[in-house]
Order: sequence, then structure tokens, then C-alpha cells
Amino acid sequence: MFFPEYRPRRLRRTEALRAMVRETELSVKHLIYPLFVCPGKKVREEVSSMPGVFRLSVDEAVREAKEVYELGLPAVILFGIPEKKDELGSEAYAKKGIVQKAVSAIKKEVPELIVVTDVCLCEYTSHGHCGIIKNGEVDNDLTLEQLARTAVSHARAGADIVAPSDMMDGRVARIREALDEAGFQNVAILSYAVKYCSSFYGPFREAADSAPQFGDRRSYQMDPANAREALREASLDIEEGADIIMVKPAMPYLDIIRALREEFNHPIAAYQVSGEYAMIKAAARLGWLDEERVMLESLLSIRRAGADIIITYFAKEVAKKLKSL
Ligand code: PBG
Repeated sequence: MFFPEYRPRRLRRTEALRAMVRETELSVKHLIYPLFVCPGKKVREEVSSMPGVFRLSVDEAVREAKEVYELGLPAVILFGIPEKKDELGSEAYAKKGIVQKAVSAIKKEVPELIVVTDVCLCEYTSHGHCGIIKNGEVDNDLTLEQLARTAVSHARAGADIVAPSDMMDGRVARIREALDEAGFQNVAILSYAVKYCSSFYGPFREAADSAPQFGDRRSYQMDPANAREALREASLDIEEGADIIMVKPAMPYLDIIRALREEFNHPIAAYQVSGEYAMIKAAARLGWLDEERVMLESLLSIRRAGADIIITYFAKEVAKKLKSL
């Protein structure tokens, strides 16, 4: 009879042994919860392709922010659905814009909760692109000015971190310069450094009403086939002054998270996007997957790949689950 010399199972025998040698931890402290804020009062409208996720009016968003804080989660990221859209996305930087109102209301009621704001134009432009259209194309440098204004207006409203998600070239540098000029040296930039042109954003575009009305985002978001380019994008954003670099989506791009982890010392975030959430929810509804276990495993995998921070629609559910353990 053959006897194995080394037996990895020895350290898997009991939960105490497994916990002692566990390499990766999933804690609420690493999670950011996304909120979609819309006009009106007492609005709480569920997004059909994202069960458990709602479009919230400012008053409801404040209620939600309190709950998030009480659950021990450190941060929310805000997305706005404006009253009206135009060619230039001017509601994105309006003083009384939807995100500006939500930020100041949340900071007033829950000052210790970190408020991150998504800086992009796609929710605010009538054409649904992430920038200004000139001669049928998204014009990079014109867009930078709109993004810089938007970021400064979020900072003015009280945002702790601004998160540009547009993928224009040079936007981190331009935003850093504008923030510093306006006296917001301490507002951090979480850049969506590596954002792929992914089909996993579908449910988000329903939630934020931000699907492009013509064409697609391939001229600015990254080609899913590219990994080396991800390193170039990340190093550019770091040189330009990003404080945290993000990979998005998360689970289909774990190799990219790992590659960035090995190359850079900056904190790394990953965005478990709407489509990743919707897949798990849908399979669970059909009884094909155990939702709770898959939720925890997917997030643990993203941490194991090297992400410090995860933006996830599961954040509240995870917090409740971890509390009960
Ligand atoms: C805005 C933005 C998008 C997401 C985050 N910020 C949509 C897009 O680029 O089309 C997607 C998030 C998700 O799918 O959960 N540009």
C-alpha cells in the first residue's frame, strides 16, 4: 500500500486549523456600496435586472447611507440620475445637481461615512457617451474640462474621493490640477485606471439610464483582449496622481488584478459590476446556485487576486452575513 509523505489534508481537518492557515480575509472594511440617486422624494424604485438594488431619492439615499454606516461598511460610491440631460452633460457639474445634493445631505447626516463619487458624463449626456461629441466622435480634450469641473463640484459638495470612470486620456492629471487649484488637495482620486469595454455593464445602464444612443464605448474603454495595456494605463494614472487604481469588471479580469498587484504598490480596487451581480442573483433565483456561498466566494477570489478594496452591490448582504457568523 502507498502512503503519501506529505498530507495537505492535515491542516484542513478542523475549522480552527483551516482558519489558522487561511491566507485571505474578507471583511466589511474593504467594501464600498454603490448608490443610485434620482430626483424626487421618497423614491425607492427597484432596478429590474438588479434585485435588491434601488434608485433612491436623496432622502432615501441618506437613510440607506445611515444603514450602510451602521453595518460597519466604510464607504458608498454615488451615481446620479439627473432631472434632464443635454449634449454637454451640464447637470454633472451643476451646483444643485443630484450627486452634489446627495453628497452634502449624506455628509451632514453621516459625516464619518466615506463618500466616493463617480465622475463621468454618460448619465448626464443626451447621447449617453462619456464625453463631448465633436464631428461624431468623443473629443478627449474638451471632455477633460467637463470632468475637471464635475470633480471640483463634487469636492465642493463634500466628497472625500472622486472616481473618474470615463477613460479619457490625461483625466487624472487634469482633475488633480483642478482639485488642487480649488483648494481640495486632500480629496483623493480613485481612478478607474483599467476599465474594459465590457458587456457586463448592461444592468447598470438600465439602473443609470446611461446606454449610448449610438455606437459603443470601444474608442475609449479598453479592449478585453489586452493585458499589457492594462499595466500601461495603470502606470499612466499613477504618474498623473491617482491615489487608488481600479480594475473593472472584477471576476472575469482576476489576471489583471493580479498583474497590477505584482507591478504596483498603490492600493488596488476592483469593481464587481452589475452584470456579475445579476448573474449570481439570476442563477440563485432559478435555484441553480447557492447565492450566499457564491457571493462570499466571488468576493474572496477578488481579494485573493490582489484587490484591497471591492466595490460591490453585495456589500450590505455581506456585512449582514459576516455579522451573524
Ligand atoms: C460610468 C460607469 C459605468 C459603470 C460604472 N461607471 C457604466 C459604463 O461605463 O457603461 C458600470 C458599473 C456596473 O456595471 O456596475 N461610465
